[in-house]
Amino acid sequence: MTSPKDDFDLILKNGRVFSPSGLLEADIGVRGGKIAGMGSIAGSSRQTMDCRGLTVLPGMIDSQVHFREPGPVHKENLESGSRAAALGGITTFFEMPNTNPLTIDEPAFNDKLARAKGRAWTDHAFYLGGSAANAERLGELENMPGCCGIKIFMGASTGDLLSADDDTIREILRHGKRVVAVHAEDNDRLDERKHLIDGGVDVSIHPEWRDVEVCRRATERVLRLARETGRRIHVLHITTGEEMALLAEHKDIASVEVTPQHLTLAAPDCYAEIGTRAQMNPPIRDDGQRTALWKALAAGVVDIIGSDHAPHTLDEKAQPYPESPSGMPGVQTLVPIMLNHVAEGRLTLERLVDLCVSGPARIFRMAAKGRIALGYDADFTLVDLNRTETITDTWSASKSGWTPYDGMQVTGWPVGTIIRGHVVMRDGELLGDPIGAPVRFQETIAAWD
Ligand code: DOR
Repeated sequence: MTSPKDDFDLILKNGRVFSPSGLLEADIGVRGGKIAGMGSIAGSSRQTMDCRGLTVLPGMIDSQVHFREPGPVHKENLESGSRAAALGGITTFFEMPNTNPLTIDEPAFNDKLARAKGRAWTDHAFYLGGSAANAERLGELENMPGCCGIKIFMGASTGDLLSADDDTIREILRHGKRVVAVHAEDNDRLDERKHLIDGGVDVSIHPEWRDVEVCRRATERVLRLARETGRRIHVLHITTGEEMALLAEHKDIASVEVTPQHLTLAAPDCYAEIGTRAQMNPPIRDDGQRTALWKALAAGVVDIIGSDHAPHTLDEKAQPYPESPSGMPGVQTLVPIMLNHVAEGRLTLERLVDLCVSGPARIFRMAAKGRIALGYDADFTLVDLNRTETITDTWSASKSGWTPYDGMQVTGWPVGTIIRGHVVMRDGELLGDPIGAPVRFQETIAAWD
């Protein structure tokens, strides 16, 4: 807190600041966790950080992670997952409900919030799982403080949360107003094609089993149901140009996420090189589909980049396919991988901030986050756009202890994570104690104040 003799708690000096009107050389003053000054700042401060040569981005948000707690915490927990987030320059995460028990009622939801208190290194919110069991109560449950929205799985993946049929999905969409995030894979088609993965097959079959039509069909179905019920949806981790063509026609009702791994890796090489580590749902597809995702990103069809951080241990991944579980870690590598794409000219820094900050803030209707402007939370991701580093398994702070990018050299690196004025990470070191707090949303502000 500000001592009476200081004007600010923290001043970031001489950075290149990503302001709402563009990049500018400026200082930023922080008081009481909020941005309190911007420009040439002369006042006194308890702490000053020299940001010369660095770019100050608004805090990067990862709106899709699986941190496994409660449940299989040998893979990850809220402390380790958020530690990885902070080390990777992420200031806020939204965590998924396929934990054990599933996050589908108040006790399970409040238990997660309680577990995060004093252990989460970054700000956070949790999804509530939508299912036949709780559909009728979602209108009330979705407004629990700390809830970012509803999540539904149309196709079976990790955990037991499945809402495969139209009637269940329709019931979920009919109740409530908040964002419904959708994992769109058609479960019937997955079941029909399961014979493809019988007995001793290689993991490279994964995108063949979970083929383009598995995804296209589910996305088409959920778009139809969203239209029918008038409910806005957010379709996660899109992997095909076929879905992008559909989604481009429904921008008024459906927002779109892609992941860094679907933009970076491609079949068949990824399966040949890293085997089951590349296995996730929906799958990494071929270079043609990867190009289609980049085209959709450039065309404005994509709204958000989220990591779908889904850690499993290397022992679990070493089981023969298809016993090997689907999912890969990604919360710590989202910023470096995407900055490298900026360095290589695939997207602009402005578009990256749009996808990782403004997109989540707008779509989930976050309060006081998403902009470097007076009165907003003082959340910043400090990056060195010129720094070249090699991503390694040993750098990974996730309990799973690996990354699909081990050995990859990237240009652009997160060097500071500041959350509501607390310097949580500087030069790869975590500082202080975990101060992460639940995010506030426009709809639920009153519940907090
Ligand atoms: O590959 C995946 N892993 N996809 C999902 O939808 C779930 C995730 C997990 O939780 O492991």
